[in-house]
Amino acid sequence: LANPQWGGRFAAGPAAIMADINASIGFDKRLWRQDIRGSLAHAAMLARVGLLTAEEETQIREGLHQIAVEIETGKFEFSTELEDIHMNIEARLSERIGEAGKRLHTARSRNDQVATDFRLWVRDAIDGTVAQVTALMNSLATRALEHAASPMPGFTHLQVAQPVTFGHHLLAYVEMLSRDRGRLLDARARLNESPLGSAALAGTSFPIDRRFTAHALGFDRPCANSLDAVSDRDFALEYLSALSLLAMHLSRLAEEIVIWCSSPFSFISLSDAFTSGSSIMPQKRNPDAAELVRAKVGRITGDFMGLLMVMKGLPLAYAKDTQEDKEPVFDATEAMTLSLAAMDGMIQDMTANNSRMRALAGTAFATATDLADWLVHVPRLPFRTAHHVTGRLVGMAEAKGCDLADLSLEEMQSVEPKIDSSVFAVLTVEASLASRTSEGGTAPENVHRCAQAWLERLDNAHE
Ligand code: ARG
Repeated sequence: LANPQWGGRFAAGPAAIMADINASIGFDKRLWRQDIRGSLAHAAMLARVGLLTAEEETQIREGLHQIAVEIETGKFEFSTELEDIHMNIEARLSERIGEAGKRLHTARSRNDQVATDFRLWVRDAIDGTVAQVTALMNSLATRALEHAASPMPGFTHLQVAQPVTFGHHLLAYVEMLSRDRGRLLDARARLNESPLGSAALAGTSFPIDRRFTAHALGFDRPCANSLDAVSDRDFALEYLSALSLLAMHLSRLAEEIVIWCSSPFSFISLSDAFTSGSSIMPQKRNPDAAELVRAKVGRITGDFMGLLMVMKGLPLAYAKDTQEDKEPVFDATEAMTLSLAAMDGMIQDMTANNSRMRALAGTAFATATDLADWLVHVPRLPFRTAHHVTGRLVGMAEAKGCDLADLSLEEMQSVEPKIDSSVFAVLTVEASLASRTSEGGTAPENVHRCAQAWLERLDNAHE
C-alpha cells in the first residue's frame, strides 16, 4: 500500500528493501518528546495567525498530550511503514482527532521539523553533559582540596621530574574540563536558532510567525536562511567535536588511574565498587572502568568523523543523507554519559596512598632543579653554570648510589667551592613544594587556594 502521507502521487508501496533502508523509526523514536514539543509550538502559532481555529488547536494539543502518554507507557505502536517519528506521531494524531490532525502540517515540512527536533535534542544533551562535567569538576576539586599538600612525583616523559602535590595534579584536570564545558556552552549558543518555519527549503506562502515558535521552543531567534536551516548540521558536529575533546581528556585521566593503580606504582587504590577480578588469577583487581573510559574516546571520535564525512560534499538543501546524523549523536551521548558517571565514581572512590607517593616524590634526584635554583639564588651562578654543576653532582651521587642530600659538603665543594651547608635545606621534597609559589605553581598554599576558588565557582554554577 502507498504511504498514506503521500498516497496521492503513489499507486504502490515501496519494495521491502526500500522500506528497510528508508525507515529511521528504529532510532529516531528517541526524538518523540522534541517532536511533540515542536508540534505544540507550531500548532499554537498556526492558531495565533488564524490558520487553525482555537478549537482545532485545542484538539491538536490534547491529542498530542495523549500520544505522549501512549508513548511514555509503551502503548504506542511504532510503524516502519510510516518511516520516522514525525509521520508516526502525525498519522496517529489524525487517527485520533481526524480533520484537525491533518491540518497540523500546514506551513511545515519534515525538513524543518526534523532539524528543529534534533536541535532541541542536542540542546538537552549539551545541558545534561554540562551538568555531569560540572559534577566531575566538583569531585576533582574536592579531592584536590583534601590533597592540596600531599606530595607526589611530578612527571615529564613519564620520568620522575619534580615533586608536585596530588591536589595540583587533580586540578589540572579541572582546568581541562572547564575548557570542555566552555566549548559545549559555545556550541549551545550557536545552536540556539530555530529552523521551524523554513518549510521544505524555500520558506512558505503562509503568514507564519517564526519568532513566536522560536521563543516558544526556547530558541533565541529563527535561523536567517531557510536553505541553511534545513540542511545545517553544524550544531551536531560542534557537539560531537566538543565531546571528542572531552573524551580525550577523560582518556588521559583514565590512563593515569590505570597507571596509578598498577602495583609497581601503587599511588592509589580503587575499591571493590570500581574494579573487577580475574577468572583465573585469584589475586587480581583490575581497573576495568578506567580502561573502558580510556577506550570510549575511539568510539566518540569515530562518531564525530562519521558524521563529518556524511556532511562532506552535500549540496543544498535537505538531502536524506542527513537522516544519518542521529545514530552517531545518540551513540556518542550514551558513551559520554556513562564515561562521565564512571569517572566521577572513580574519583570519589579512590584512596590515595600518600606515603607511597611521598616516598617516590623524592627519588630519582627529583630536587636537582632546586639545587640548581639555589646555586642561582645564593652564590649567584648563572643558571646554565648552575645546571652544569648540578649535573655533575647528580652524576657523583648516582655513581655512589645515594641521593643528592647524602653527599657530604666536602664532596659538593669539590665540584663548586661556593656551596655551603645551607644548600641541604632546599633538597627536601617539602622545601621544593613550598618554594613553587609562582602563579599556577604547585606550592600547597597555591593549590589550597585554587581548589577552594574552584569549589566556590562550581557552587555558584549550580545555582
Ligand atoms: N526521517 C527524516 C530525517 O531524519 C525526516 C526528514 C525527511 N524529509 C524528507 N524530505 N524525506 O532526516
